[in-house]
Formats: sequence, structure tokens, C-alpha cells
Amino acid sequence: MVKTIYKMNFIREEIIKKSAQILNNGGLVAFPTETVYGLGGDACNDSAVASIFSAKKRPLYNPLIVHVHNKKIAEKYVNFSDIAAEIAHQHWPGPLTLVLPRRVDSDLSLLVTAGLDTVAIRVPSHPTANALLSCFGGPVAAPSANSSGSVSPTTAEHVIQSLKSLTDMIIDGGPCIIGLESTVIDLSGSSPSLLRHGAVTLEDLNHRFGPISDLTNDKNIIIKSPGMLTRHYATKQPLRLEALSAGTDEAYLAFGASAETNAAVALNLSESGDLTEAAANLFSMLRVLDLPKFNGIAVAPIPNHGLGRAINDRLRRAAIPA
Ligand code: TXA
Ligand code: MG
Repeated sequence: MVKTIYKMNFIREEIIKKSAQILNNGGLVAFPTETVYGLGGDACNDSAVASIFSAKKRPLYNPLIVHVHNKKIAEKYVNFSDIAAEIAHQHWPGPLTLVLPRRVDSDLSLLVTAGLDTVAIRVPSHPTANALLSCFGGPVAAPSANSSGSVSPTTAEHVIQSLKSLTDMIIDGGPCIIGLESTVIDLSGSSPSLLRHGAVTLEDLNHRFGPISDLTNDKNIIIKSPGMLTRHYATKQPLRLEALSAGTDEAYLAFGASAETNAAVALNLSESGDLTEAAANLFSMLRVLDLPKFNGIAVAPIPNHGLGRAINDRLRRAAIPA
């Protein structure tokens, strides 16, 4: 049962202390990050990690991201190559997850990494996430705070809708600024590869760190990143992508200058065609339109560059039929 739901404006320090205590006792805390809300538990505590999997109904083969307060703490759990250290230096804190070799002496729960010898790790930039990680001190395993495979949560209200009775605390930090999960890059092999698109774009990474192979649509990605192949981020009603118009029985998710549409209802990800605004709106607008009274959601084409790649990636996976 949720014991308490607080607004961050009130007694911030007490909330953080209380949340860290819950983590220390093996409980679960849902907290805001700059990307999406996470469902956090002590990454070294098998039973806490097991309760994350069970709350989300997440398959045990799909490993979790470990969140830490800074790189120095990360170094206790993973080995950094020179390029990994450089990328972390440039992008942490921020929406980038690095997959790195797990240290043999790491005391992370084996469940976190689903038996892999690598760990996905990141330092988030959201002040509330930072405060919590600093107060707790250790690593926090935190997947998105929603049922496995469904639309990710970008507000505390979204978390309440799917996990209310399954977490000990939900910290309300308002809407997430980015609204899409972190970029994931694998630096555990001989050359870097992209496993998930996010706010740190492929263009950006290529520009600064040389060619990064994009494995996000590789059919072998399930071996590298087990969460990536399946239907994901899915609405209950079907999605129809690249839709230039919508039927009277459909909801329409537009982008840019408004298209002529007969849709039952329409929302616009960004009237000015701004991809950052569109990313921040994507999951919450999908939730609003995902109603059984519509035969489905028609989604306008989104330009496939920069953050648009991450948006299209989420939409494609969400559109895979159940
Ligand atoms: O923005 C985010 O990353 C959010 C917030 C809460 O930080 N978290 C998040 O976690 O999206 P999750 O569990 O929903 O996604 C983790 C992704 C999955 O696709 C998983 O397969 C992949 O990271 N992953 C985790 N550990 C991995 C590993 N050792 N090697 C490759 N992929 C891994
Ligand atoms: Mg997720």
C-alpha cells in the first residue's frame, strides 16, 4: 500500500530522508527523473529487486538500470574504459545509460543484471532523484514506474494509476522534462553501440565519440538488451502510424501544422513542430487518447532525426500488435 504521496514543495528534506529509509529497509520508492518516473529499490537487496520485478510484472530475463549519485559511486560496481569515462564525464548527470562490464567484486543483486556480466548504469540529473541517491548513498535499481510493456509514466499521477498499491512511496516532482527513457549505449565490447534511442541523440554521440553502431533495430538486440525486442510502451487501443488523416472513429495524435482530420478527438504533440516538446508530450497524450470508445489512435508522421528517432522508436514498438 502507498503510505504517503507528497508534493516536493513541502518538507522536501523529510521526504527524501523518509524515502532513503524505505530503500534501506528493502521497500520501493517511485521517484521523478528527467526522463520518466522510476520505481526504485536497493540494487544490492535481492528481495527489494524481486519486488520491483513483481510489481511491474516484468520478465526476470530483462535487466534493470542502476542509478547512482555520481561516477565515483558507479566505479564500485562497473569498470570504466577510457571512452566510457570520457562519455560519462560529458553526459553525467543526464539522460544517458552506459552498459559496462560488471566488477567481479560488485555486490549488486544478480537479479538486477538478469545474470548478464554487464550492468546498465546512469547518473540522473533531476534534483529530486539526485537528492534521493545522495541521501541513500548506494545504487538504486529503477525501471520505469509502470506495468511492464505499457506506456511509461511522466507524472506522479501516471504512477498512481498503475502501481499505487505496489510501492511504499511516490514522490511527486511534477511532469518529467524529457518524457522519454534514457539513451542506452553499450560500451562493454570492443566498439560502442546504441541499444536505445533517447534524448542524447545518435547524431550527438557520433559527432563527439566517433561511429557508434545503431543496434536498435538489429534482430539480435535481444541478446544484448533483452527489453528491446518485444512490444513495448503499448497503448490498449491499436496505433496507426504515419497517418496523414484520421477517421471519425479514431483519435488523432498530430504533429506540427494541423492536418485536416475528421478524428473524434485530436491532440498535437507540438504545433510548432518542436521535437523536444513532442517527446515531453508523447506518453501523456497517448494515455489521454487511449480510450476504448475510439477504434484506435492514428499518429501523424514524425521527422526521423534527432529526438524524432527516439519518438519513432517508441511508437513503432507500441504499434506492434498484441
Ligand atoms: O530513463 C530511464 O532509463 C528510466 C529512468 C527511470 O531512469 N529507466 C528505464 O529503465 O527506462 P527500464 O528498466 O524500463 O529500461 C532498461 C533498459 C531495458 O531495455 C533493458 O533491457 C536494458 O535497459 N538493459 C538493462 N541492463 C542491461 C544490460 N546489462 N545490457 C543491455 N541492456 C540492458
Ligand atoms: Mg520501461
